[in-house]
Amino acid sequence: MNHFQFKGTELYAEDVALKEIAAKVGTPFYAYSHATLTRHFKAFDDSFASVPHTICYSVKANSTQSVLKTFINLGGGVDIVSGGELYRALKAGVAPRKVVYSGVGKKDDEIEYALNTGIMMFNVESEQELTRISEIASRMVKKAGIAIRVNPDVDPGTHPYITTGLKNAKFGITIDRAMQEYTRAMTLPGIDVIGIDMHIGSQLTKVNPFVDSIEKLKIMIGKLRSQGVDLKYFDCGGGLGIQYNDEEPPLPADYGKEIVAATKDLGMHLIFEPGRNIVGNAGILVSKCLYTKARDEKNFIMIDAGMNDLARPALYGSFHGVLPVVKEQDGMIVADIVGPICESGDFLVKDREVPMFKQGDLMAFTSAGAYGFAMSSSYNSRPRVAEVMIKGDKFEVIRERETIEDLIKGEKIASFLVS
Ligand code: LLP
Repeated sequence: MNHFQFKGTELYAEDVALKEIAAKVGTPFYAYSHATLTRHFKAFDDSFASVPHTICYSVKANSTQSVLKTFINLGGGVDIVSGGELYRALKAGVAPRKVVYSGVGKKDDEIEYALNTGIMMFNVESEQELTRISEIASRMVKKAGIAIRVNPDVDPGTHPYITTGLKNAKFGITIDRAMQEYTRAMTLPGIDVIGIDMHIGSQLTKVNPFVDSIEKLKIMIGKLRSQGVDLKYFDCGGGLGIQYNDEEPPLPADYGKEIVAATKDLGMHLIFEPGRNIVGNAGILVSKCLYTKARDEKNFIMIDAGMNDLARPALYGSFHGVLPVVKEQDGMIVADIVGPICESGDFLVKDREVPMFKQGDLMAFTSAGAYGFAMSSSYNSRPRVAEVMIKGDKFEVIRERETIEDLIKGEKIASFLVS
């Protein structure tokens, strides 16, 4: 069931009219449906019901604490890539033993923080990182559980910016070096070799690249076993895509079936790091039309949200659907929907047929729950927008709109500038 639906002429999130939220919190704002977040998490989780597994939601996709808490309440863990993400997840109440830590640039203080927290494992992305974790853990007289993120050199068939598993990508340790690193890891102090990890890219719309990568890693697991190294965890990463427009990604259940089939003879505990698949279509961005202008060749709809609020169209040329919050437009028009930022890349919709929005009309950009607010900035000194969560006929602000005072928080005018 889609929880963003029209009732009559008005767009609702669950049982709340978006118009009502806009009247209370102003625009722009992000809105998340609690029922959708829950349904998506459960659908993913249920796909692996037949095998031991942990869903470590990828915090980067949407790191707002109420979103994290929703999944933690459902038994989820988290995949983090920074000390900041660890802090957020802990504040939201995650069990430290359900935290996996990925990322190519873990700093000393972040490694220490994770070790003090007692996370499940580090997904190690380079030879030097492995050495560093060993040094820090030994100094702290702790054991760091590690998996090596193996770069399987498989093309996920997605946007180049979010392709991570090809051998020229910065991610992971290439498959030809990984065996050697496992052997070294076994000898290093402070290291507990417990898993193997992959993450090949994001917004994948086919299952084969996942399965192909798993097959490559299985060969390694076999070799390691023959050397007496028995890994407990197989972290399959994230990356399962969603429908933004006309994509046809596999359902989590179909993805699950194939992954389970490919891994079940290993008898390992599976870990998944889904982000977009769970939050992407659970969120929208609501904005207001400020002005319109028509030129001979082009129509522009200027709105109060920009590329600083939703960067994906500007960054990747990605598609987000747009719906009127109240259907009261006089027809359709081919237009660009643009923000107030002083850059030509500041568009949310380009040359598309959209409702003929007029001044004051509200609109909702769909599929904005993943990498929406999380990638927003205050560029052009625009306070970051509010976020709300809807549950049934209620909604709450889960992140206040920033104020202009927030914009200069932590700044100070250099003393030599003040006479
Ligand atoms: N695990 C690791 C190690 C990752 O790097 C990522 C995403 C995920 C899991 C979650 O992937 P997902 O399930 O969401 O596909 N900003 C881009 C997406 C960047 C993805 C980065 N890594 C976008 O807006 O499309």
